[in-house]
Parts: sequence; C-alpha cells; structure tokens
Amino acid sequence: MKTAIVYYSMSGNCEFAAGKIAAELGADVIRLEPEKSYPDSGFRKFFWGGKSAVMGEMPKLKPYSFDGKKYERVIFGFPVWASNPTPPIRTFIHENRDELRGKRFAAFACCSGGGADKALDKLKKLLEADSFEAELVLIDPKDKPNSENEAFIKGFCRKLEN
Ligand SMILES: Cc1cc2nc3c(=O)[nH]c(=O)nc-3n(C[C@H](O)[C@H](O)[C@H](O)COP(=O)(O)O)c2cc1C
Repeated sequence: MKTAIVYYSMSGNCEFAAGKIAAELGADVIRLEPEKSYPDSGFRKFFWGGKSAVMGEMPKLKPYSFDGKKYERVIFGFPVWASNPTPPIRTFIHENRDELRGKRFAAFACCSGGGADKALDKLKKLLEADSFEAELVLIDPKDKPNSENEAFIKGFCRKLEN
C-alpha cells in the first residue's frame, strides 16, 4: 500500500521518527515548514508555539508537493504543542481536505511528557476520522534515545503492514 508520511518537526524528534518509519514501510516523506518559522529557543518558543496551537492557527506553509491520488494511506507526525497537534498539520489538512477523503490514516506524536492522547484525538476530529489504523506516542526519541522507542516504532509499523 502506497503511504505518505506528512510531518512537521521543530527540533528534530519527529524528523527522526519519520525517517525510521519511512525506512520500515518504504513510505514517501513530506516535511511541512511554515513560511515564517516559529521561534525555537527560550521562552518565545513555548509562548508563540503554544499560543498558535491553542488558537488553532493555520500558518502559511512553504511550498510542498503532495499528490493525494498517489497514496492510499497518510501517516501524520507532529510534536505535541500544548496538548494540540502543531499548527502546520492543521494547515495541511485544510489545504488538502478533498485529497484526503477516503484515505486510511495513522499518526505518531512526539512529546516530552503529556498531552499526546488529547492531541491525537484533536487530529482525528480535524480529519473527521473515527480511528487511526495505528497510533504511536514517543518521548523525545532523538533527544532521549532508548531501545523501547525502537520497539514501539517497529510495533507501529507492523500494525500497518497487516
Ligand atoms: C510550543 C511547545 C509546546 C509544547 N507542548 C508540549 C505538551 O503539551 N506536552 C508535552 O509533552 N510536550 C510538549 N512540548 C515538547 C515537544 O512536544 C517535544 O519536545 C517533541 O518531542 C518535539 O518534537 P520536534 O523535535 O520534532 O519538534 C512542547 C514544545 C513546544 C515547542
């Protein structure tokens, strides 16, 4: 089954997970980048990113290539921001609403502690999906590497292979 991984990553943890999942599944990877980058250090990082996520903003994205016709499944990957999916994912769903109709969905969220379940539920609502084929929560997999994460990633991919 042809799969696209659509993700945003500010500091590399979701990028790390997306790379591993893409290698396991042979999926195409589409990285989203807001046209205006979020501040990525200090208080401003949490303030502006958190505010944008809570307000449900849809920042303008740099050009990306996504041909929905090519894919039967889309896996979304995002860092949890204030218990929400990150805003670039919101923009992508809004821009590709028609292309996404009828697809199978899965998702992975990277976080440093909590709020991932809420964020995944919000993503389901945005996608108008009852459930994901598979979902995965990872705690900062690049910054805090451990063998459990590797096993979780493999388990997530095995579910999608069946
Ligand atoms: C604005 C902002 C809000 C965040 N909110 C949460 C949160 O609600 N819960 C949590 O566990 N981690 C939170 N984090 C931490 C990130 O989700 C986590 O470090 C993630 O692994 C980063 O992924 P990335 O390296 O791909 O950007 C937040 C980080 C930022 C920048």
